[in-house]
Amino acid sequence: MELITEIEAMREGSRRWHRQGETVALVPTMGAFHAGHLALMRRARELASRTVVSIFVNPLQFGPHEDLSRYPRRLEADLQAAQAMGVDVVFAPSEAVMYPAGEETARVEMGRIAQVLCGRFRPIHFNGVATVVAKLFHIVEPDWAVFGQKDGQQVAIVRKLVRDLNFPVAIEVVPTVREASGLAMSSRNEYLSADERLKAAGLYAALREAEERFRAGERERQALVSVVETALAARGIEPEYVELVDADELRPAPEQLVPGRYLLALAAWVGQARLIDNVVLEVAATA
Ligand code: PAF
Repeated sequence: MELITEIEAMREGSRRWHRQGETVALVPTMGAFHAGHLALMRRARELASRTVVSIFVNPLQFGPHEDLSRYPRRLEADLQAAQAMGVDVVFAPSEAVMYPAGEETARVEMGRIAQVLCGRFRPIHFNGVATVVAKLFHIVEPDWAVFGQKDGQQVAIVRKLVRDLNFPVAIEVVPTVREASGLAMSSRNEYLSADERLKAAGLYAALREAEERFRAGERERQALVSVVETALAARGIEPEYVELVDADELRPAPEQLVPGRYLLALAAWVGQARLIDNVVLEVAATA
């Protein structure tokens, strides 16, 4: 496995593979690998003959009072894990390499979809994500890029980025990997104490209650949202939001669900960690 830190070397490596008839899958990450990242790498290896994992804690996607400085960084352990997964290249550029223009760098503006759900509380976050993902696509020129469903809004935004700006990249989404308690794997779980971890498992438990009601035939948006809110309140969790939106454009679902794919998504603070989770609800078209 090779560690590359410069843009030209990364681009040239990928172009060399393509000239040799190989295909490339990219897994964009901010490092501090957990089982969720490993699942993305495993999928990338199935899709393409070469796998690139990028590790870059992107300052553009952190607000001024967010956790940029304490976000976990452990390149050595990540390199070992990536190697064990059979990754071909880890691309780990410095901030100066990625953003030589500093504050004056050009940015991608995603519009409304970046301002809803988590975007209401993290207004610069998704434009920062879209900017760095666009750069990574230009640098690595992958055939596939692999993301986790845990970041449901990020998935919708990356799909829109690819569609609207015509990136020749196929987006692959891997189901959320969970701890035995149901808690979605996240690098930010490291901020939780043992008690908080137990409490945080309530996020998925609440979503599951709504999913059960949906399976039992409930089709009213507000009823499904209320199930989650009530289940969270019973566990002493006050969410930033609980919303049911269409999974592609993230617009509020109609009051009575019609056939389509929906995202039941939430964010909540548990201790020092801002956690997100979601389930996908699909209403099949009736024949
Ligand atoms: O999901 C993440 O870890 C980040 O948002 C991403 C996609 C690597 C962009 O920095």
